[in-house]
Amino acid sequence: MDQVKKGLEGVVALDTQISFIDGVQGILRYRGIEIEKLADLSYDAVSYLLIYGKIPDAGELKPFSMELIKERDVHPHLLDMLKFCDFEHEFLDALRTAISVCAHFDEDLNDISEQANVRKAIRLIARFPTLVAAFYRMANGLEVISPDPSLSHGANFLYMLRGALPTALEAQAMEKDFILSAEHELNPSTFALRITASTLSDMHSAVISGLCTLKGSLHGGAREGVMDMLDDIGSADNIAAYVQEHLEHKQRIMGFGHRVYKTYDPRARIYRDIAMQVATEKGKSHWFDLAREIESVMYHEMVENKHKPIYPNVDFYSGVLYKDLDIPSYMATSIFAIGRISGWIAHFMEQYADNRVIRPRAHFV
Ligand code: SDX
Repeated sequence: MDQVKKGLEGVVALDTQISFIDGVQGILRYRGIEIEKLADLSYDAVSYLLIYGKIPDAGELKPFSMELIKERDVHPHLLDMLKFCDFEHEFLDALRTAISVCAHFDEDLNDISEQANVRKAIRLIARFPTLVAAFYRMANGLEVISPDPSLSHGANFLYMLRGALPTALEAQAMEKDFILSAEHELNPSTFALRITASTLSDMHSAVISGLCTLKGSLHGGAREGVMDMLDDIGSADNIAAYVQEHLEHKQRIMGFGHRVYKTYDPRARIYRDIAMQVATEKGKSHWFDLAREIESVMYHEMVENKHKPIYPNVDFYSGVLYKDLDIPSYMATSIFAIGRISGWIAHFMEQYADNRVIRPRAHFV
């Protein structure tokens, strides 16, 4: 029997056509196209690319977007049912519960045919923003805002959150955020989803596996950790002490390091640019400037202590962007999920087509 690889580090578990990562060069491609080339498309177009394997032409994109827009609404009874949630502390849990409840109202729930899976995929992609924005409104005692069919996925999310139209740059930033969060090969939540799909369980169950896994602070929960870390550090003169103390106690600094990228996460670079643009538009660069300083201190401290640099990952500058969009940290992982859902759907479809149960071995000790 093979040697155990802790955390399956370096283990190649399956073939995929969905994405490619080169952790040494810092390259990420969705369906063979560099992430840098995709970041300026719409989230609808990138979701189509991930699921169907090609960038849609106008004739393909329009009906796909229309389908998504048609499915944005959620039943008001569903939101009433969730009033018991303590959203400040259970925001992602509420999303997981909501998807569980949605499953019971979905007549396609246990129909695992391709047509039913496509219908369920549209409903899930369309409703994540509506649910997350509604929870925010309910958490703050505000009236829930219905989706606006004239707005893009990103603009509509900010509109439902605030009850006011976002600026063009803010809407563009949200679209980029969803695109950059959409897909990342066999990360923990996607792999959990594929294991569930590999037994031919249904799409809602697989997505819930993904949500439960994404919640962890070492994975999707890191974005919230970055936002809280920025608050804890507060100003540049506290950075060195904060970093040194964490490193001394072998505590991880949120938003840095990656199992695959041993260089700059290409997504972090794109997030850094859009976060800077939003900070500039708002005339408030405190959080962005603090983040830049943290990055520099982390680099030097790690080179000094561990003789190897460490770089920001996808969660670092996205945390800065959310702060400058006035998004509370307890929403961060759920917003990550709004982006990730289309990558999860693509992997679900690919796993169903693969039709092989994922079942590794364990070494008895
Ligand atoms: C995501 O896999 C994906 O693709 C995930 C993701 C996606 O798109 O789905 O990219 C999203 O989850 C990004 C990662 C978000 N998590 C965080 O930001 C939490 C902080 N990061 C660390 O927990 C860590 O970097 C991991 C979990 C991301 C990766 O850990 P590894 O590959 O298991 O690395 P490791 O724990 O073996 O660390 C190697 C060394 C250790 O030092 P030594 O024990 O060798 O002395 O580097 C150190 C670690 O202590 N280290 C850190 C660190 N990350 C690694 N030290 C301080 N702060 C950190 N963030």
